[in-house]
Amino acid sequence: MPAGIVGIGSAVPGRILTNRDLEQMVETSDEWIRTRTGIRERRVVSPGETATELGLRAAQRALEVAGLEPEAVDLIIAATSTPDTVFPATAVRIQKELGARRAAGYDLSAACSGFVYALHQARYLVEAGAARHVLVVGVDLLSRITDWTDRSTCVLFGDGAGAVVVAPVAEGQGILASRLGADGEGGPHLYLDAPHARHTVGGRPEEPLPFIRMNGQEIFKFAVRLVVEETQAVLDGLGLSVADLDLLVPHQANIRIIEAARERLSLAPEQVFTNLERYGNTSTASIPLALDEAWRAGRLKPGDLVVMVGFGGGLTWGTVAVRWSLEGRP
Ligand code: ACO
Repeated sequence: MPAGIVGIGSAVPGRILTNRDLEQMVETSDEWIRTRTGIRERRVVSPGETATELGLRAAQRALEVAGLEPEAVDLIIAATSTPDTVFPATAVRIQKELGARRAAGYDLSAACSGFVYALHQARYLVEAGAARHVLVVGVDLLSRITDWTDRSTCVLFGDGAGAVVVAPVAEGQGILASRLGADGEGGPHLYLDAPHARHTVGGRPEEPLPFIRMNGQEIFKFAVRLVVEETQAVLDGLGLSVADLDLLVPHQANIRIIEAARERLSLAPEQVFTNLERYGNTSTASIPLALDEAWRAGRLKPGDLVVMVGFGGGLTWGTVAVRWSLEGRP
């Protein structure tokens, strides 16, 4: 049986950091940030808030929509680059808080492509009958790995979480196709050193904290090319064209990347969903957060064709095409 999305939810922290707030922190302006990125504000965690809590809230909403008890979950995959602890995995921390006693869990590292990578795995586990209900969570607290003195990156990022429940659906519905890719040659363009990577025997913990480092212009070119090629490729594989696409949900990195890709694909504005204006780039959370908002806003109805395209550090990318099957909205 095909696998589809039978529940969806998202969560963001309450604290809003506006462009005006950033003007007080680094040499920048609201005008520069809006025109270069499309971002007006982002959500950031307060001290003490955790990735586990945010992921848990998104997961609870997704289970509620699916009408499932936590005990029904067989597996939790949490895609994240900002776990609260390296181990236990975020997925297992969520498992405990959720009370999903039957579920196994692990984290997946594919930067901003993490959610689509995890969705691809969940799809095949469900299709193979190895799991019936897989909870896929994308959660990142990029505020924890952002250098708040570096204006070229700190204006871009925010915190958030999104989750879906993947389960069997009727023939012709659900995930129609999924594709993953990676190019390690591009790794130096976007990376985060592991905090302990340079620690040595007898050494002292004096190294400064590692933060996201990015070559913005290289990532920009890669992202536009990638969204265009992968959207086209997934549609070609299904024997469909851009005219058949009801909604493209790309990784929410920069409105200029999304607009450039939209124009090259000859898509109408209403065929592309964006919400980065209010959240910035939330990494692996951006696609499920956008998908959840699109559904709750009535932009997705059963039978619609939605394509998600993620891209990010690695470099990695992934595309999932879904014949939407979730009825109504809450
Ligand atoms: N405020 C004011 N000026 C700034 C700022 C800022 N926040 N940041 C950079 N500038 C300045 C630069 O110093 C430069 O000044 P100069 O001309 O005097 O040297 C000027 O603005 C132009 O800088 P560019 O880097 O050329 O600006 P660009 O138009 O390329 O925009 C940006 C930069 C927004 C980072 C863009 O390259 C981008 O969005 N790249 C893709 C980033 C991305 O998507 N990353 C995430 C993908 S993966 C993931 O999600 C983790």
